[in-house]
Amino acid sequence: MRLAKYLAHAGAASRRAAEGLVRAGRVTVGGEVVRDPARDVDDDSAVALDGAPVAGPEARVVYALHKPEGVVSTARDPGGRATVVGLVPDEDRRLYPVGRLDADTTGLLLLTNDGELAHRLTHPSFEVPKTYVAVVEHPPVDELALRALREGIELEDGVTAPARARRLAPDRLELTVHEGRKRQVRRMCAAVGHPALTLQRVRLGPLRLGDLAPGAHRRLTGAEVERLRQATAPR
Ligand code: URA
Repeated sequence: MRLAKYLAHAGAASRRAAEGLVRAGRVTVGGEVVRDPARDVDDDSAVALDGAPVAGPEARVVYALHKPEGVVSTARDPGGRATVVGLVPDEDRRLYPVGRLDADTTGLLLLTNDGELAHRLTHPSFEVPKTYVAVVEHPPVDELALRALREGIELEDGVTAPARARRLAPDRLELTVHEGRKRQVRRMCAAVGHPALTLQRVRLGPLRLGDLAPGAHRRLTGAEVERLRQATAPR
C-alpha cells in the first residue's frame, strides 16, 4: 500500500500529516529516506519514522519447521492426528503450512501468515526447487534409474519435468524437483523400481533444513524471507 496510508494505518499520524512527515524526510524504508508518500510498501518493507520502526497492522512471519513423521500438514485433522500448526505455537497469528508433506515424510516445511508468499512458493509457475533425500528399496540405484529420473518419468497424471537426481549411497537418492504433485517423489522412486522407505525434504529454494531437530522450529530472519521472495520473483 502507499507509504502515507501505511503510516496512517499503523497509527503514526493522520493520512495528511503522514504525507507531510514523508516529504520532510523523516521516514525511511529499508534504511533509506523516502520522500514520495505514494511509494509502495508492505509489512516487510522496514518502515521507520524518525528512526523508530513502524509496525504494520499484522507483521508477516515465516517459520521453518522440521516436520516429524506422523504429523499432518493441514491446519486441522478430522482424524485427530497431530498437525504441523500445533507444533508452531504463535498466539498472535493464524499460521498456514506452505504446501504439504505426506504424513510419513519428514523435513523442511514452512508456516506463514503471508498468503501471497505461500501462493508463490507453492504455485508451479514459480518453479521453486525442492530437494529430497530418499532411502530406497532394492539397492543399488543404477545409472539407468538416475537417467530416467532426470529425464522425466511417466506417471498416471503425466510425465514429470526434468529433475536433478544423484546417488548419495547405494540405497540413498537425492532428488530435486520443481513440481509438487501428490506423492510425486515417492511415485517417481517407485516407478524406477526403488520405492522410498523414508523421505525427507532437505531444501526449499534457498533454504536448507540444516540442523533443525525433528519437531523443532525457528522463525526465519528478514534476510532469509527476502531471499525466499527473490526465489519466487516472476520470471
Ligand atoms: N513428494 C512426495 O512423494 N511426498 C512428499 O511429502 C513430498 C514430495
